[in-house]
Amino acid sequence: MQLNDRIAELKKEKNAVILAHTYQPGEVQELADYVGDSYGLSVEASRVEADILIFCGVRFMGETAHILNPARKVILPAPSAGCPMADMIDAKGLSEMKAANPDKLVMCYVNSTAEIKALSDVCCTSSNALKIAKSLPQDKGIIFVPDRHLGTFIQEQTGRDMIFWDGSCPIHAQIEPSWISEARKAHPGVQILVHPETPRESRILCDHALSTGGMCDFAAASKDNEFIIATELGLIHTLQKANPDKKFYPLSNKLVCPDMKMITPQLLLDVLEGKAGEVVALSEDVRVKARVSLDRMMELSL
Ligand code: 13P
Ligand code: SF4
Repeated sequence: MQLNDRIAELKKEKNAVILAHTYQPGEVQELADYVGDSYGLSVEASRVEADILIFCGVRFMGETAHILNPARKVILPAPSAGCPMADMIDAKGLSEMKAANPDKLVMCYVNSTAEIKALSDVCCTSSNALKIAKSLPQDKGIIFVPDRHLGTFIQEQTGRDMIFWDGSCPIHAQIEPSWISEARKAHPGVQILVHPETPRESRILCDHALSTGGMCDFAAASKDNEFIIATELGLIHTLQKANPDKKFYPLSNKLVCPDMKMITPQLLLDVLEGKAGEVVALSEDVRVKARVSLDRMMELSL
């Protein structure tokens, strides 16, 4: 039997669903029941009714799914797949920052550990960050963690009083202004869509700063037929599949997140056969506190 057929058979037998982020390898996206950005995945995970939720992404995403839907067994196929940016801040550092700024609210990017979410007032993803920042009480300053580049973008767009943790995504932080000018030369007149995890000096040279979900919506609605995509390469698969008549050029082939590329179809089969994967588990105290900041995000995103 073909590997994909066996995966489908076992999914049915075990009452399992597969969720995948748009940065996952194309062949993994093809096996998923739902593919989306961090926000879409959070919403979808909270609604899953199947017994097992196999999360193809990195650790903070599986943790978020578990926090939002603790009655399901959430499995991370590649337990060592983490997010280097999420690991740039720890509970001690955030507690010190809060103590030094007692009047500010803590807004944390979903790319963070459950411990950081538990210490935060509200979470956000890149797709709802502006909406959430605008809806927080205007008389309060904001401590934004852990991505200083997304934080800078939010501050520029909303005019909020903000301070940032000095974290960044190593994949998007590589993007240099010269990459943008080279892409413009290679594809004259083609719009560049950039992820707001990108440093400001490069981001402002692009045409639109959008989350991965925002890029999908933009490309589908646009009259243009070609786009340069300044984010992780996995999104090219998602975009190309949804828009077969349009062309998507990666800004650079260097935009690969190794943590997002640890899952393979064979590993998914191993998980379904009980030979691989880790069930996400958190202390009840952390899970309940982290849930408060995620629930607030969900309410403010509506
Ligand atoms: P979004 O899915 O919110 O666009 O975030 C991208 C990302 O870096 C996930 O790791
Ligand atoms: Fe983390 Fe960046 Fe990889 Fe996303 S792309 S998981 S932010 S390192």
